[in-house]
Amino acid sequence: MTTIKMRAPAGAMLRATGGSIVWFTGLSGAGKTTIARSVVERLRDGGSRVELLDGDEVREHLSKGLGFSREDRDTNIARIGYVARLLARNGVVAVVAAISPYQDARDAVRRGAGGRFVEVFVRASVAACARRDVKGLYAKALAGEIAQFTGVSDPYEPPPAAEVVIDTETTSLDDSVEAVTQRLRALGFVLGVGDD
Ligand SMILES: Nc1ncnc2c1ncn2[C@@H]1O[C@H](COP(=O)(O)OP(=O)(O)O)[C@@H](O)[C@H]1O
Ligand SMILES: [Mg+2]
Repeated sequence: MTTIKMRAPAGAMLRATGGSIVWFTGLSGAGKTTIARSVVERLRDGGSRVELLDGDEVREHLSKGLGFSREDRDTNIARIGYVARLLARNGVVAVVAAISPYQDARDAVRRGAGGRFVEVFVRASVAACARRDVKGLYAKALAGEIAQFTGVSDPYEPPPAAEVVIDTETTSLDDSVEAVTQRLRALGFVLGVGDD
């Protein structure tokens, strides 16, 4: 008998097939937190266990006291990666939203994730992020008042092989979330409820 497999429509319920790490990287103001929160909501709505590790929050707790030198940034990412791994191996989808400017640090997390890792590059130009200036930091950074500000006075290494690339200057929030969830489905990390 032939069965026709229906593609779940955009916005359909999604359920995780187990733990994984979904890692959002990009400049400050690119849209990581906004998109990550929506992805978390989508997965929670489908009954999945999911946790968001947001860079800003982590720096107030787990990484309190760390600065923005390369060494401190690497330590911050290694800590987030460690926690994300613990969560993922216990069946939780660990969603991370952190600038994570260095490829080596992101790759180290990927290597520890046992293949269940999705890198999402949230791309927006420095000019666009500065126009949004969500936290008022670009004005200060561009005036030379903040040292080691990513994209202005500190490096950002774009991922050469991210599983998902989202240009938030041209992509709506809904379409951005859809790009991530479609990729999670394609990788088998989530199922549309009703899929077999
Ligand atoms: N397509 C989009 N996806 C996500 N955010 C967007 C998009 N377009 C505009 N924005 C806006 O960009 C800003 C991104 O802020 P935020 O998510 O805090 O960035 P980050 O966490 O990367 O620093 C928000 O004000 C958001 O409303
Ligand atoms: Mg953020």
